Amino acid sequence: MLPEQDAARRAVESAARSILGGAGYRRIETPTFEHTDLFARGVGASTDIVQKEMYSFEDAGGRSLTLRPEGTAPVVRAYAEHGMHKAPQPVKLWYLGPFFRQEKPQAGRFRQFWQVGAEAIGSDDPAVDAETIVLLHALIRELGVEGVNLRLGSLGTPETRADYREQLIAYLRANEDRVSPEVRARIDLNPLRAFDADDPGTREVMQGAPLLLDQLTAEDAEHFAEVRARLDAAEIPYAIDPTLVRGIDYYTRTLFEFTSDVLGAQSAVGGGGRYDRLAQELGLGATPGIGWAAGVERLLLAGEQRPEPEPVTDLYVAGTDVPAFALAAEARRAGLNVQQELAGRSRKGQMKQASRTGARWVAILDDEGTFLKDMETGEQHELEPTAVVAHVLKGRHFA
Ligand code: HAM
Repeated sequence: MLPEQDAARRAVESAARSILGGAGYRRIETPTFEHTDLFARGVGASTDIVQKEMYSFEDAGGRSLTLRPEGTAPVVRAYAEHGMHKAPQPVKLWYLGPFFRQEKPQAGRFRQFWQVGAEAIGSDDPAVDAETIVLLHALIRELGVEGVNLRLGSLGTPETRADYREQLIAYLRANEDRVSPEVRARIDLNPLRAFDADDPGTREVMQGAPLLLDQLTAEDAEHFAEVRARLDAAEIPYAIDPTLVRGIDYYTRTLFEFTSDVLGAQSAVGGGGRYDRLAQELGLGATPGIGWAAGVERLLLAGEQRPEPEPVTDLYVAGTDVPAFALAAEARRAGLNVQQELAGRSRKGQMKQASRTGARWVAILDDEGTFLKDMETGEQHELEPTAVVAHVLKGRHFA
């Protein structure tokens, strides 16, 4: 993060705080690294994330630790460890911070990236699904992201998925000679990923593949219909995508992803879904949950460029000696924004630097006395050193 990117990043944080905070979400930050097992079990052993993207290391105590590749498993762990099941449900949490995945870097894809995320834990009401989607939609809109599309699907329960998986494996086996070698090699491990494949042969085969959405239980189909009805009521446009898959195993029922046309190959701005079995999977007691995460760098790439606000410097202290330093310190204690000469410049150089900082006033301390220059009018007058701060404060209030 470079200084010139600070304003845009702050805009993401303040939009998240206002939209999510306004909906009753409270901020949480989990540690940068956790036990590898949390992610291996939470994200799923067969996923790309666990198989090849985690930065894992052993600490001096022989424990395997991993730089967090995602935030949901840690937030669910924190929910259980800190007794949040005793609070009114659902517990609504948001986070913003760095995540790590060993991926090949390209435009919009980094090995260290930031996510802003939200998790609502403790309710399986379809209204929670719809509300989280509404909130991500609001955040994306607030940041001026262009060319946005929302894809929506449902994965049903793990049991439905297991039956469906068998069917899909059988279907892929029957068409083995027409799919790509990568897909063929992973038929048993992760048949669903075949829907993601780019090669024409596999794509053609997948057009005739059975769809999970057609096989949901009556309860899951009803849940999905309830979510859709609420999105319609909230006037959120979406497309149902029966082949939507995401690279994480903990999802059940609702699944969604926002993409932006202005991003290249890495078009996913943010996504998420329901994870009603995750807590149980982690040995933390059955608790339903749903949430999402959005990539901060991608939000910024696809979002509206915001002009950097001008820094406000009330006072520039020209001088590096002890009285000058004392004046700068006094002015800061009084709440002024102060910059001071730090590079031993000539008086002329100091005045140039003062105007570069956009200072409203410049205090000049030399053998002839203490002077205050008004940078707006160019006027300069002498005054007692003890009167400088009061004068600038007065000017500030009348400004
Ligand atoms: P995810 O889809 O893996 O979901 O990541 C969410 C978002 O993070 C992506 O849509 C993308 O914008 C951004 N992202 C992911 N990897 C990278 C990368 N290498 N470089 C830049 N940006 C990236 C999750 O992480 C889930 N935890 C979301 C969730 C929350 N599901 C339920 N609750």
